[in-house]
Amino acid sequence: MTLRLVLTILLLAAAPAALARDEAMRDIMAGHVNPGALGFWAAGNDPPDNETPAQAKLRWDEAAKGAKAMETWGQVLQKPPYTRTGRWNDDAQLMIDMARLGETPIRLKDGPKAFEIGGRLYDACNECHKLYVPRRGATIPRESPLNAP
Ligand code: HEC
Repeated sequence: MTLRLVLTILLLAAAPAALARDEAMRDIMAGHVNPGALGFWAAGNDPPDNETPAQAKLRWDEAAKGAKAMETWGQVLQKPPYTRTGRWNDDAQLMIDMARLGETPIRLKDGPKAFEIGGRLYDACNECHKLYVPRRGATIPRESPLNAP
């Protein structure tokens, strides 16, 4: 066994379980929830300069898809093996509820209303992260809106 391997094993054994990265959760977040939220939030943000009608349509379509993705994956989070004790399911439900609430303004292309609901959606993400994501510093990628002030 190399020294490096031995050290890794020792480090892993010593790390508190709470600091272990939940890879499955990370995949769900990075692969589905976060892209869905980005699409949703883009509906409430100012459109990019010189957005063509085709680009606008794509942006609203992505927002609608994002809402659906958050509803689907929110429900997955509420069931085994992902569900956890405490506020977990409530936070997942808040995400589902805000995504659902956003569907009508997204269909009506009502940017200000989508923006308002987007803020409440952000609170759902944040509450769950505050309670369940161990402080590891760099868990949330820098470019994520979760790092917005
Ligand atoms: C029910 C709880 C819960 C909700 C709701 C939730 N998350 Fe997460 N999220 C987690 C957990 C737990 C992790 C940490 C996974 C790990 O151990 O790395 C995480 C990690 C992340 C990450 C980091 C992924 C990576 O590559 O490391 C991003 C980005 C993220 N969430 C975005 C969001 C967004 C955006 C929302 C809201 C639309 C949201 N999350 C809602 C529980 C939640």
